[in-house]
Amino acid sequence: MRATYELRKMMVYFNGEVLNKEIHIPVNYEKFVTELKLTDVEAQKAIGNQMTAFQDYIKMYTKVSGRVKIVGISGSLRKMSTNTAAIKFAASLLPKDRFSFELLDYSDLSMYNGDDEAMSVPANVRKLHAQILGADAIIFGCPEYNYSVSGVLKNMIDWVSRV
Ligand SMILES: Cc1cc2nc3c(=O)[nH]c(=O)nc-3n(C[C@H](O)[C@H](O)[C@H](O)COP(=O)(O)O)c2cc1C
Repeated sequence: MRATYELRKMMVYFNGEVLNKEIHIPVNYEKFVTELKLTDVEAQKAIGNQMTAFQDYIKMYTKVSGRVKIVGISGSLRKMSTNTAAIKFAASLLPKDRFSFELLDYSDLSMYNGDDEAMSVPANVRKLHAQILGADAIIFGCPEYNYSVSGVLKNMIDWVSRV
């Protein structure tokens, strides 16, 4: 019998460094998203604390000039994804004059296949690679699938790691 699924996770990295412990957000699934919005107050507070720590970290330790470029990567492709909603909520807390935000869309990636790579790395993989390299920070939000990250996210990382 499977356990009931109650945990959502939020992780924040800066330049490849994990800033904080990942947040495990206990939520009632149905209450989590209304019209693609994070509505759970407890989750909003946890993410708010994380993003405050993130901004403090940037002020103290980095020399990013201009706006800090953030990309969001969700481990779920579905439209009503709670992870995507959590990432969007996190990004909405960052002041727009100092941060830019883009949610990466990788829903069109094929499954990694070494034969395809040998022909040439697909253009959409190269584009993702450039978007990630060009970012100062990445916000990941990923569901747990069978005690691991989701297959779609792993597949995307596998492809991009080959560029
Ligand atoms: C194939 C599959 C495996 C899953 N495995 C787990 C799991 O191991 N632990 C867990 O807490 N939830 C598990 N879930 C539930 C998902 O984490 C849950 O549906 C989550 O809301 C999906 O994220 P999303 O709302 O961003 O799409 C699994 C769901 C699927 C489809």
